[in-house]
Amino acid sequence: MLELIKMSRIEDGSELAAAVDALLNDAFPEGAPNERSAYYSRHGVPITSMLLSDGGRTVGHLAIYERDIKIGEEALRVGLLGEIAITADRRGGGLARRLVRQAHEHLRARSIPFAILFAFEPRVYVSSGYKLMQNQTRFIDTDGHCKTLVYHGGMYAELLGRPWPNQSIDLCGTAV
Ligand SMILES: CC(C)(COP(=O)(O)OP(=O)(O)OC[C@H]1O[C@@H](n2cnc3c(N)ncnc32)[C@H](O)[C@@H]1OP(=O)(O)O)[C@@H](O)C(=O)NCCC(=O)NCCS
Repeated sequence: MLELIKMSRIEDGSELAAAVDALLNDAFPEGAPNERSAYYSRHGVPITSMLLSDGGRTVGHLAIYERDIKIGEEALRVGLLGEIAITADRRGGGLARRLVRQAHEHLRARSIPFAILFAFEPRVYVSSGYKLMQNQTRFIDTDGHCKTLVYHGGMYAELLGRPWPNQSIDLCGTAV
């Protein structure tokens, strides 16, 4: 039976950490064998990690960050979703959609109006309510320098009915 596990921290050295590492290294082979720790050193430890477990086997992962960004002149807390991965033999069954839905519930309960993600394949997130951003976006790139551009694959979802502002954004950090 599929179970959702919400955690504030995945304890290094635990069995669960090993299972999550195996899942993420497999899903993001370019980051293996240290995908999760490299991701955390780039972006920080997520505020919440969501896992899907099936009979004790970890089959899905999603990381949630909360960040104070600037949209136009307004400072606003948003949710950033990253490291979305489903184990290869369970893909195509709606599990990513389910994790994203749970992440949205979590963010709504915290009165956070928008979720943002940076997709390799934007099509995956359309049915979860995401649209491509057209905003000029300032962020810290992998080389540590600030860049401003319309981020390819940058997507937003409106969680509380507030329309997404069509203004420039400062992510005040990296794109997760
Ligand atoms: C991308 C990934 C998370 C999708 O997980 P999944 O559980 O198979 O996705 P779902 O079954 O929930 O599908 C959600 C939607 O995406 C679509 N979809 C799934 N994989 C897709 C793909 N590779 N390309 C295009 N669309 C895809 C589905 O058809 C579905 O569309 P619908 O809701 O309109 O019917 C999974 O393939 C994966 O782990 N890939 C490797 C890691 C990765 O690339 N992560 C994404 C980082 S942005």
